[in-house]
Amino acid sequence: MSQGALLVEDMPVEGCSPMGGVISVWTLNRPSKLNALNRDSHTAIKEQCARVEAEDSIRAVVIKGAPPPPVEDGGRSKPTAFAAGADISEFVGKSSDDVRSFFGNNAWEAVWALSKPTIAMVDGFALGGGTELALACDIRVASSRAKFGQPEINLGLIPGGGGTQRLCRLLGYGKAMEMTLTGEMVGAEDALRLGLVNKVVEPDKLEVEAMQMAEVIARKSPHTVRVAKRAVRAALDLPFSEGILAERSEFIALFDTEDKEIGVKAFLERNDAEWVGR
Ligand code: COA
Repeated sequence: MSQGALLVEDMPVEGCSPMGGVISVWTLNRPSKLNALNRDSHTAIKEQCARVEAEDSIRAVVIKGAPPPPVEDGGRSKPTAFAAGADISEFVGKSSDDVRSFFGNNAWEAVWALSKPTIAMVDGFALGGGTELALACDIRVASSRAKFGQPEINLGLIPGGGGTQRLCRLLGYGKAMEMTLTGEMVGAEDALRLGLVNKVVEPDKLEVEAMQMAEVIARKSPHTVRVAKRAVRAALDLPFSEGILAERSEFIALFDTEDKEIGVKAFLERNDAEWVGR
């Protein structure tokens, strides 16, 4: 669909009710620059976020990086990357006034703000804004050769796409501080141990694993999935006791939905639920 910095393909999922459903797969597509996120990438991601919210058929989003380009004659091969960060070449000579409005309306927060589930499929380098894009997703599935890091400190910068805050929430203060201050990379197995990723698989299994997870979610009631996402998110923003109340209120409201009745009946009758999405 979209060309250039972001390739978009909507993949139909069997067994999705009501009236079918798709997983929108986005490929960061600047492989010669390790899929570094430039202005075009941000614009395309933000456009796709708006489309995802507008189109009922889209049940989940999977974000991945384009594979390395073929090696040119006499050239060096490029490594595999999800995204090696923001495009550093766009930082040269820029003042705070030059970047304020751009970073005030960025792709990381657009992805984070989606009401539908998002999965980052991380193969190879996810550095700086690449780690931050993965963190802006709800779930991260990585290959065994994935590497995460926040190397902005080496550029005289800090993470600007939510990295300090999301790492702190996900990994805790100490590890978030270590990654931010040292700029050192974390390999896939350590990322799994730290809770930075949900799953690690061999590179040739990554696509299947991430898509299967997206399909499992896509087959649930789309309404209930949104409510579930909102409820878990409340834990990040609200004090614990308020979060418990928020969850209870969402849970009780679901008793007025058709999908609750459909799901409960299907269980009792040993059938598959045919969701209606309300
Ligand atoms: N922005 C712009 N271009 C980038 C980039 C980025 N964040 N990361 C890599 N590239 C480009 C390189 O400039 C190079 O371009 P060229 O071939 O036209 O010269 C190409 O991608 C390949 O990268 P290269 O550095 O040659 O690959 P490598 O295998 O030697 O090293 C990395 C891989 C990931 C270790 C290294 O590219 C790197 O450290 N990238 C920057 C990471 C970073 O600081 N990110 C935070 C940005 S805020």
